[in-house]
Amino acid sequence: MKPGPRRTRRTGGGSVLRVLRGSGRTFDVRAVGVCVVMLAALPLVAQPGGDAASGRRLVESSQCLDCHRIGETGSRLGPDLSDIGSRRSTDVLRRAIVAPDDDVVPEHRFVRLVTKDGTVVAGRLLNQDAFSIQLINAGEQLKSYLKSNLREHTILEKGLMPSFESKLTAQQVADIVSYLATLKGAEK
Ligand code: HEC
Repeated sequence: MKPGPRRTRRTGGGSVLRVLRGSGRTFDVRAVGVCVVMLAALPLVAQPGGDAASGRRLVESSQCLDCHRIGETGSRLGPDLSDIGSRRSTDVLRRAIVAPDDDVVPEHRFVRLVTKDGTVVAGRLLNQDAFSIQLINAGEQLKSYLKSNLREHTILEKGLMPSFESKLTAQQVADIVSYLATLKGAEK
């Protein structure tokens, strides 16, 4: 099966999205299978002229590294992006940047708490049980709090990842996606 490249890409990409949308939040095995097959067949679909070098500069100049780590630089607050290119398809990368709250995975949940003396603390939830709650704060420190010492604590359903949809042009997003797609964790 070797039809013209343009047509294949457009048709394939649309079908992938339809399958994802149509199946809602819980993807069934067949839908995922179809997506995987299609994505594998469409290596270029989500890179409309993205320029990885420009993407790298954008990542370094936008606040991405305030929250993300790439290689030896950046913060551990958000997920490490050093090998994101081998873990996520370009479609998923694009959505993570423009519509980040669509699918926040549980390990990225954030917590906001207020201690009895009124200090507000926010960070990524690591663990909690009946008595205590553990998080990693923006300074990358692991913190544990006894719930009995807290005035309140809230698990935030939305992630901390801000949407860059209005802050970046489509071209800039494409550049960043191209750059992230090159991050395979091998380059140290
Ligand atoms: C305020 C902190 C913050 C900033 C700034 C930020 N992110 Fe994120 N990002 C997160 C968090 C937290 C997540 C985890 C998912 C969520 O919360 O939605 C995330 C998720 C992601 C993901 C998905 C990771 C995965 O494992 O699927 C990508 C890709 C990403 N961010 C890229 C970027 C890029 C590119 C920028 C800069 C343009 C950026 N982020 C800026 C906090 C941030």
